[in-house]
Amino acid sequence: MGKTTTTVNIAAALAMNGARVLVIDLDPQGNASTALGIDHHADVPSVYDVLVDGKPLADVVQPVKDVEGLFCAPATIDLAGAEIELVSLVARESRLKRALDSYEQPLDYVLIDCPPSLGLLTVNALVAGAEVMIPIQCEYYALEGLSQLLRNVELVRGHLNPALHISTILLTMYDARTRLAAQVAEEVRTHFADQVLRTSIPRSVRISEAPSYGQTVMTYDPGSSGALSYLEAAREIALRGAGANAHPANPYATQAGPGEGGHPQQSAAPSASPQHFGMVEENR
Ligand SMILES: Nc1ncnc2c1ncn2[C@@H]1O[C@H](COP(=O)(O)OP(=O)(O)OP(=O)(O)O)[C@@H](O)[C@H]1O
Ligand SMILES: [Mg+2]
Repeated sequence: MGKTTTTVNIAAALAMNGARVLVIDLDPQGNASTALGIDHHADVPSVYDVLVDGKPLADVVQPVKDVEGLFCAPATIDLAGAEIELVSLVARESRLKRALDSYEQPLDYVLIDCPPSLGLLTVNALVAGAEVMIPIQCEYYALEGLSQLLRNVELVRGHLNPALHISTILLTMYDARTRLAAQVAEEVRTHFADQVLRTSIPRSVRISEAPSYGQTVMTYDPGSSGALSYLEAAREIALRGAGANAHPANPYATQAGPGEGGHPQQSAAPSASPQHFGMVEENR
């Protein structure tokens, strides 16, 4: 839980820090498109056309109003059918990767918002990106749901994308008043010391209101605690990218930070919470 909110707000915050950022909405619900104020009714050219018909990604990408440098490839409802239609297509797991590889506009980051379940759409995201970013909601025992996600990342790494790794974990919906939030945060930081960002995102009504205005919290209420936290988290992500590039021996070295050209960082954001991650759900 928190994938879409994380994707759109981190993307907007990175763009506001000067990066060129593309959000790919891979969820048929189209929540990321909505939150970015992007038209995504049934006739709009979308990620569906890219995945199923091989339309160039550039033909579906739209600029996001109000945020310079931020772009979105929208999802339309027909993407729900893509999960089935992809099964019989050639290179069904790598169609998004191919589309991205031939996208020629300069980009510093690509953030892919994944649907709730692990199907071919999510697999396409995990094949297209090198990095996985996981939002962890500090309201549940998040690590329970995480183990299944980690196994799936391992499977895709082993068979389809050797570069894939979990690079970033963002603690979100953090309520400093509850003991559970502190416990979850501590537990996650213990297990994933290198991946967890120092900044956590507070639970905030402003964050949850913003999408109904077709906005991220970054433009809806730039001075709010939520917006400031996303800016800080984005700054950490940008600094990590820059630092990684300074050390060629480091496994992250092939990814460029903002403004450095080369291959953009591509992150998928599958959910870590049991209620939203398909296979885990079956065990509940
Ligand atoms: N920091 C926050 N404070 C308050 N509400 C939040 C916060 N982050 C997310 N939410 C709310 O929680 C709900 C779920 O978040 P979100 O849509 O990002 O999850 P998701 O993982 O994308 O869900 P799905 O699997 O359905 O796509 C939304 O209503 C969102 O507005
Ligand atoms: Mg979502």
